[in-house]
Amino acid sequence: MTESHEHTSGISRRKFAQLLAVSGSAALLPAAELRALERPRGAVPGAPPSADDSFWTLVRGQFALDDDLTFLNAANLCPSSRPVIETLYQRARDLDRDPSPDTKERLIAQREETRRLLAEYLRVSPEEILLTRNTSEANNIVSSGLALKPGDEVVISADNHPSNHRAWTEKAKRFGFSVTVVDAVTPHPGPEYYLEAFRKAVTPRTRLVAFTHVTSTVGDGFPANELCALARERGALSLVDGAQTFGVLDVDLSQMQPDFYTGSGHKWPCAPRGTGVLYVRRTAQAALSPSIISLYPGSVGISRSHEGIGQRDEPAMIAFGQALRMQMTIGRPAIESHARELAQALIAGLSSTGGVKVWTHSDPARSASIVAFQPASLDPRRLARALYENHRITAQVRGGEDRPGLRLSPHLYNTHADVERTLAAVRRYLTSGV
Ligand SMILES: Cc1ncc(COP(=O)(O)O)c(C=O)c1O
Repeated sequence: MTESHEHTSGISRRKFAQLLAVSGSAALLPAAELRALERPRGAVPGAPPSADDSFWTLVRGQFALDDDLTFLNAANLCPSSRPVIETLYQRARDLDRDPSPDTKERLIAQREETRRLLAEYLRVSPEEILLTRNTSEANNIVSSGLALKPGDEVVISADNHPSNHRAWTEKAKRFGFSVTVVDAVTPHPGPEYYLEAFRKAVTPRTRLVAFTHVTSTVGDGFPANELCALARERGALSLVDGAQTFGVLDVDLSQMQPDFYTGSGHKWPCAPRGTGVLYVRRTAQAALSPSIISLYPGSVGISRSHEGIGQRDEPAMIAFGQALRMQMTIGRPAIESHARELAQALIAGLSSTGGVKVWTHSDPARSASIVAFQPASLDPRRLARALYENHRITAQVRGGEDRPGLRLSPHLYNTHADVERTLAAVRRYLTSGV
């Protein structure tokens, strides 16, 4: 007997039939995993003007998260909401019932709706949107696709993710261009500081400036609009890694005007795993060669030449659109202000806790919804384990020498009760040890 057969034998026939009737989406999943999906869920709610915890509790009800889980790790990987899981399942079922070219073509055509939604969400045009697998791929399409040569320079921020840092230094070795790194300063010295630091680093040979909108390390925010304007004034392209802003801040690319902006669907947008976006400004498209040439491209703009990368997970890309739709229904400004409010509450609570060193600045111009802190002399790994095992609180460990500690990243499914529970647990271990 296979493992999945064993599990499904635990679901009664009646329950299984009920599930099919209610949602039309019963999968051959273990019964325990179906429980959260079974719970009745109302329509996705729109946020009232002053949404409080009772509203965000309704939003949480749209997710399949375990009831006792305080999940504070959106910066790493977010759960998909139930509407997204349902769409994913329905499209996968369509394909697995009949994987013929007709079904595939129908799904590939639906991918275009996700592109349209992404364009609306980012306030750009569908002709400028590529659907990728994640931010890493999107960043690397840029660093592999520009014709950079000896004599050219790329200016990057020191606190970039490897896909936007080591990707540049490795390709610099291969293609002969050089990389200038702008140091990161902690605590965040303010947007003006970084603007000046980049101003000094950019030279007439600079072809591109690449930075992270909000860093994954300690949540430092970079002045994206001003840095993109600086690059443009100096005749350089700009790449903004938006992995930690796409899906949580109400990002408006028509204001920011980057040449490239990247993000992952499976982080803050709460879309299925293996979905991402690369925005390529119309005027930058001629400079970018496709790195992969194959079949099944998109239908409009740059997707016709740069998105044909062979067969892909069409159901996931379609469900990505559903995730964006859900956020637009709730209201993006409300999501941003809620996530920021929870992060501010964490910063305030941790800052007033003896021995804790908070790495993240509380100024909203210097941070967003990521909070990193050092829990006095406690071992971060042991603390994270105790939080998870004894309190079902998920935090990300930041090991090593560079601003070590824990990272918390609240989102739309969290409430102030989650913040209070987490602060109380951290304080308890600071007193008792771990
Ligand atoms: C700033 C930043 N860029 C890129 C990535 C890579 O994201 P993915 O693994 O989804 O490609 C991450 C992941 O944490 C990140 O924080």
